[in-house]
Amino acid sequence: MRLRVRRATRLEADVLAPGDKSISHRSLLFGALGTTPMQVRNLAPGADVRSTGECLRAMGASITEGAAAGTVNVRGVGPGRLRSPASVLDCGNSGTTMRLLLGLVAGARIGCTLDGDASLRSRPMRRVLGPLRSMGARMNGEGGPDDERAPLTVEPVSTLRGMAHRLPIASAQVKSALVLAGLTADGETRVREPEPSRDHTERMLGAWGAPVRVEDGEVVATRLLSPLALPGSLDVPGDPSSAAFWVGAGLLVPGSSVVVRGVDVNPTRTGFLRVLARMGARVELEPEPARAGDPVATVRVRGGEPLRGTEIPPAEVPSLLDEIPLLAVVASQAEGETRVTGARELRVKESDRLKQLVLGLRAMGADIDELDDGFVLRGPARLRAAEIDAAHDHRIAMSFAIAGLVADGETQVEGAEWADISYPGFFTALHGASGAIDG
Ligand code: S3P
Repeated sequence: MRLRVRRATRLEADVLAPGDKSISHRSLLFGALGTTPMQVRNLAPGADVRSTGECLRAMGASITEGAAAGTVNVRGVGPGRLRSPASVLDCGNSGTTMRLLLGLVAGARIGCTLDGDASLRSRPMRRVLGPLRSMGARMNGEGGPDDERAPLTVEPVSTLRGMAHRLPIASAQVKSALVLAGLTADGETRVREPEPSRDHTERMLGAWGAPVRVEDGEVVATRLLSPLALPGSLDVPGDPSSAAFWVGAGLLVPGSSVVVRGVDVNPTRTGFLRVLARMGARVELEPEPARAGDPVATVRVRGGEPLRGTEIPPAEVPSLLDEIPLLAVVASQAEGETRVTGARELRVKESDRLKQLVLGLRAMGADIDELDDGFVLRGPARLRAAEIDAAHDHRIAMSFAIAGLVADGETQVEGAEWADISYPGFFTALHGASGAIDG
């Protein structure tokens, strides 16, 4: 689908952020380790979380749609009770599904094959397979000595050994996979990261009675002996990475007023908001009641304030990892230099996001240089319309739609339907708020 975007004169929006993708994946996955029913409300609407649900169903968990939109009823099987699926587990486009499932099945004494779409088949999996194999798991991917990729095959093993892991790169997906495997292992599994990544796994598992704790910045897990103590119902807070598109659009379009309600403001997820404040943006947070153990806020933004460039050092990157393409679009309208380093991981997301953001912004007239692990951008630029390839990547599609709102002419985003991976309905809502989008 080709999306056409024109310059917007003003944006007026008051929206509810869709359910957080990371917490949604985890509610279904961890729900499988309980045996009591759990109702999950405001589940993330995109295709990624549906992939997780399908895979868990194939292994015996019951996940059914509730009466209200966005509500599902989960009934798990408890630890050690997953069954080998009859067919390949299709993880679609979702790295989180594939990597967390690897941890869930590693010591579950079942066999399975995990596969995904072309993008997921190109993503590196040795970072999970390697450490899990050293715990005793039997799992393999395709490919040569440089890395391993899906399809991945898992064979049953009778037991795993806990061990200490030091991750070379901060990754919530790898950390979560190892912690999940640790729940089926003898002894302690310890995971240390160079910088903290999102902490939903340790928080949720800890709150639900799993033997998971954080000690000196290290996550420690031991064997889960009884079903998780799941809450009867869970309200998923809004996704800060989806809310970010509204925040970015509201800041860039002069005279705008944007309110996003129900946004998860767990500090491991709010790097984007902190960076924007440093750039001079007017972003106000008004606390709401906590949900799923995380702080939540209404975010209010006023458009057209002057922004200045900033430096994002490597230690800050995990806290705004998924927002960096959008941050580049925002920075193109800021005075002076914005420099991001330590973000090489963006090259192995749903697309090579560093390459795509530099290509797209350059085509629109921004002064941007690609670094091996980031970019340097000098603003502000008067953006002009261009034809942008979403590169099968939801966040690239949405980021460039926002760029189109402040560009001269008609920007076209080819492959805009990829936004459905995390935020179906986003472009319709953005059109409602701006009048500047045609699908
Ligand atoms: C996620 C972790 C992040 C993020 C992804 C979701 C998660 O990846 O990019 O969209 O839910 O665990 P990392 O594994 O690089 O931290």
